[in-house]
Amino acid sequence: MNNPQLRVLIADADIDKRVAELGAQITKDYKEGDLILIGILKGAFIFVADLARAIHRPVRMDFMGISSYGKGKTSSGEVKVTKDLDTSIEGANVIIVEDIVDTGVTLSYLIGLLHNRKPRSIRIAALLDKPDRRLRPVQVSYTGFTIPDEFVVGYGLDFSENYRGLKDICVLSESE
Ligand code: IMP
Ligand code: MG
Repeated sequence: MNNPQLRVLIADADIDKRVAELGAQITKDYKEGDLILIGILKGAFIFVADLARAIHRPVRMDFMGISSYGKGKTSSGEVKVTKDLDTSIEGANVIIVEDIVDTGVTLSYLIGLLHNRKPRSIRIAALLDKPDRRLRPVQVSYTGFTIPDEFVVGYGLDFSENYRGLKDICVLSESE
């Protein structure tokens, strides 16, 4: 990429505030039963770490590796499980924790896959939602922020594995 430019879209203080709200909502919604957060690697690793600490009830955690994007900004359209869960989700309440819902291809595939493992319930928490790009319908129960169709990095999100450690969520663009 020639001359990458970063512009802050969502500042870290606003992310913290919103994650605390999502955690409070989830705490209220799950009064009983087993709750498992499934973090989708790698993009959701920071979000799931913060969200788990904002939920004030016991949670189990597991991770799944999924790749649907190649190295660039556009999806390959193919979903591949690169790391499966270590634990059973049968009979448990599951929240899939994802960094961003873009086309919805990844999540619609995942919901189908996890459904077959007989959890008690499945919901989705996504830090970001880009509804303009949706190809498959997905129902997101907990959304952090709805954003326009721009490519963003930071707070776990990458471009070719860079920028995941930025505290703010930034729009990445190219300038001459
Ligand atoms: P979907 O299957 O198109 O919904 O793709 C979701 C995945 O694409 C996310 O988990 C991200 O890894 C990646 N992705 C989509 N949009 C962005 C973006 O703006 N920045 C970084 N990664 C993105
Ligand atoms: Mg991802």
